[in-house]
Amino acid sequence: MAKVIVTGGAGYAGCVLTEMLLARGHEVTVVDTMYFGDGGLAKIRKDIAIVKADIRSDISEHLKGQDAVINLAAISNDPSSDLNPRITQETNFDAVVRMVREAKRLGVPRFINVSTSSVYGVKKEPNVTEDLPLEPLTIYSKTKAEAEEIVHAENDSDFCAFSIRPATVCGWSPRMRLDLTVNILTMHAVLNKRIRVFGGNQKRPNIHIWDICDYYERLLKVPPNKVGGQAFNAGYENHTVMEIAEMVRNVVGKDVSIATEPTNDPRSYHISSEKIRNVLGFEPKKTIADAIHDVRDAFSEGLIPDPQNEKYYNVKAMKAQGFDSK
Ligand SMILES: NC(=O)c1ccc[n+]([C@@H]2O[C@H](COP(=O)([O-])OP(=O)(O)OC[C@H]3O[C@@H](n4cnc5c(N)ncnc54)[C@H](O)[C@@H]3O)[C@@H](O)[C@H]2O)c1
Repeated sequence: MAKVIVTGGAGYAGCVLTEMLLARGHEVTVVDTMYFGDGGLAKIRKDIAIVKADIRSDISEHLKGQDAVINLAAISNDPSSDLNPRITQETNFDAVVRMVREAKRLGVPRFINVSTSSVYGVKKEPNVTEDLPLEPLTIYSKTKAEAEEIVHAENDSDFCAFSIRPATVCGWSPRMRLDLTVNILTMHAVLNKRIRVFGGNQKRPNIHIWDICDYYERLLKVPPNKVGGQAFNAGYENHTVMEIAEMVRNVVGKDVSIATEPTNDPRSYHISSEKIRNVLGFEPKKTIADAIHDVRDAFSEGLIPDPQNEKYYNVKAMKAQGFDSK
């Protein structure tokens, strides 16, 4: 069992991860600015340490004595990052550089850096493997790619530092996001009985939130020589947006209509998750359909009573906090 600090632990993945870490016997400290509140931690608030702090500030006192850092804190999508490139650079790059070096100096043995599979940009190769060059297209993915490089350079025989590049995450979290492909399509199917698909042939790799959090927890225990200084893709299936829409209809109901509209964004992403399977034996246990079921059930159980609330949409929430003029 480990003492783990989760930055961004009040976020979409963070809330599910924190609960899982706790259930598996770890001691958890969450460090988060709470841009989206801390309501997602309500169930476990008493059982973990929660620190409202910015990773751009000195968080050494919280790093001290930990067995691992899982760094989820980030301005976590393209539109939010575009709102304020300076804070994005400071959060997704500068703070990560400082934190990884500080963790190493303080003798924290493991640093798990959560990057993104969008660091590749758009590739022609049918299988986007970790050895392909990174061609990030946005401020978000550039800052993530640059941070990886520094994190990996800090890896040595006493300090295990590496990155995970998740596909788009899907499914229910107590800090719900309704700005992610599968979750958006499911919401429209449930609420409007109608899904609008822009284009449709673009591929969007996804991974169930339970699986990605399960990976993060298992990464606490993998031997350093298998992962140190490296990056690992983590996805499930590479489906087109139209295929995902059809899966949503299969789960939500045949009365859901799918309308196709033209798009000027034909970007298609697809990643290979062979390395993480071959090197670590990690394979997803849940499907995209499972995520759709979970989100549908969350709506029917009244867990998302106000789906228009800006807190479910990162860019809207950040805008409402004046993030663009800070
Ligand atoms: N959700 C996805 O589809 C996806 C896909 C690939 C990678 N990722 C990465 O996974 C991580 C978690 O994503 P998420 O979907 O949970 O995002 P999220 O936006 O829900 O969570 C991020 C959390 O970080 C916190 N945060 C932001 N800046 C901070 C700072 N300076 N100091 C402390 N806390 C700060 C926010 O308050 C938020 O709670 C991010 O690094 C993201 O880039 C997410």
